Amino acid sequence: MKPVKKTSPSVIVIFGGTGDLSKRKLIPAFYNLFIEGWMPETFDIIGLGLEQYNDEAYHQHLLDALTAFSRSGTPETDKWDAFKSRVHYMVSDINNPEFYQLLATKLDAMDKERGARADRLFYLSVAPHFIAPVAINLGHTKLAANVQADRIIVEKPFGHNRATATELNELLTQTFQETQIYRIDHYLGKETVQNILAFRFANALFEPLWNRSYIDYVQITVAEEVGVEQRGSYYEGAGALRDMIQNHLLQLLCMIAMEPPVSFEAEEIRNRKVDVLRAVRPLKHDEIYKYAVRGQYGPGWMQGKKVPGYREEPGVKPDSNTETYAAIKFYLDNWRWQDVPFYLRTGKRMQEKTSSITIQFRPVPHATFPDNYSDNPPNRLIINIQPRMDIRLRFTAKKQGLEMSLNPVEMVFNYEKNASGKTPEAYETLLLDALEGDATLFMRSDQVLAAWDVITPILENWESNDSLDFPNYHAGTWGPENAEALIARLGHTWTGVTQAKDDC
Ligand code: BG6
Repeated sequence: MKPVKKTSPSVIVIFGGTGDLSKRKLIPAFYNLFIEGWMPETFDIIGLGLEQYNDEAYHQHLLDALTAFSRSGTPETDKWDAFKSRVHYMVSDINNPEFYQLLATKLDAMDKERGARADRLFYLSVAPHFIAPVAINLGHTKLAANVQADRIIVEKPFGHNRATATELNELLTQTFQETQIYRIDHYLGKETVQNILAFRFANALFEPLWNRSYIDYVQITVAEEVGVEQRGSYYEGAGALRDMIQNHLLQLLCMIAMEPPVSFEAEEIRNRKVDVLRAVRPLKHDEIYKYAVRGQYGPGWMQGKKVPGYREEPGVKPDSNTETYAAIKFYLDNWRWQDVPFYLRTGKRMQEKTSSITIQFRPVPHATFPDNYSDNPPNRLIINIQPRMDIRLRFTAKKQGLEMSLNPVEMVFNYEKNASGKTPEAYETLLLDALEGDATLFMRSDQVLAAWDVITPILENWESNDSLDFPNYHAGTWGPENAEALIARLGHTWTGVTQAKDDC
């Protein structure tokens, strides 16, 4: 839906205002929304942090961040001056209840000055153990008391397992209504991910084929070139299952497998998505090895440079059992998808950065053309999410010439080529939605818990059995060999990135 520019004043309070996420994503997103005219007429941003900055020093910190990370590059002076006049900084001790009194006083004073109470958006860009004190203190000081207008955004990881996610939900709902809580998964804000819904439900062509009768299998790949870099200590407690599968990849699975929603309403879409997670066939403990493969990168070469293995990264134990790669085969027990395998894989230090979804159709039921003339692989649809942004449909066509000879060709919709301007970043879409109170692209509590249910048997199995072969893939490759075996069992193969010669 077209965003509507908000008319009521807003104040955004960023817990973790000097952190990495603020620097790389949040401030650039607010700035780009501002220069493109999407921010409310009246707004203020208050960054909170431990650093002893004043407003001026904070502005300089943000200007450096914008220059380095904003898609619009170095800010133009007049636009930056206009933006920074709305940005403030407070040194904060977010564990200390007295700080929240100071924050309340500041917010009240700002409301008084502008002559209206601003809607409040609290962004919790903090380590998981700070979520509870912040939520409790916001509750005690009644800072988010306007249920219609005040919201809280919570970053992943949302809990460490089902039990802690449940506790967190309970804690948050003691202070906020569920409608005020925006659990963010930035994958849902990506243009190409949102386009999955348009592609599936705004075209009559694909939906009739979108089921077990025509689709052989589905693959979802999120491969990263980066390693864990400076996040070793966080990643040691997470691993690929928690960091990527529980959220981003399962969200993609939901978008691909969900039933058509009756309307584009937040609750309707979220209901259809949770149905998918509830349909995932539970894995039995003694069968995990048949369905899930884990990997950990060792040293290797990336773009001509030697890179360390995971166990040599800062903050990582030298005998770590944490997986940096996971590949899983899921089945969905429902009418549409019975017996269609969904392969999900993700890994760090892969050969190439690519996120894509492959829908492999079944072969033609009867070979009309003689074998020696026909290179006739089954139809295949590839949705490239990033960095390439396109949709490719492979079909078979006649080769030019006198013979009736066949070969596969591709039709390509290139997202970027068709975009009129620069593509907004995921955080721009999501922050604007949160300001406007549109929760469609945010996760509801039951969805988060259902996602934990899906991965819990694998988590428990992997945590209770150390992997004896780690590290089992070199940095700069496509992951462990076992992942090939996982998919080859049914005669399937992982699809790489396909290069189309011509776009049409
Ligand atoms: C984050 C994970 O949620 O997503 C990171 O914590 C990962 O480990 C990142 O690198 C990937 O996001 P993107 O948008 O770069 O694919």
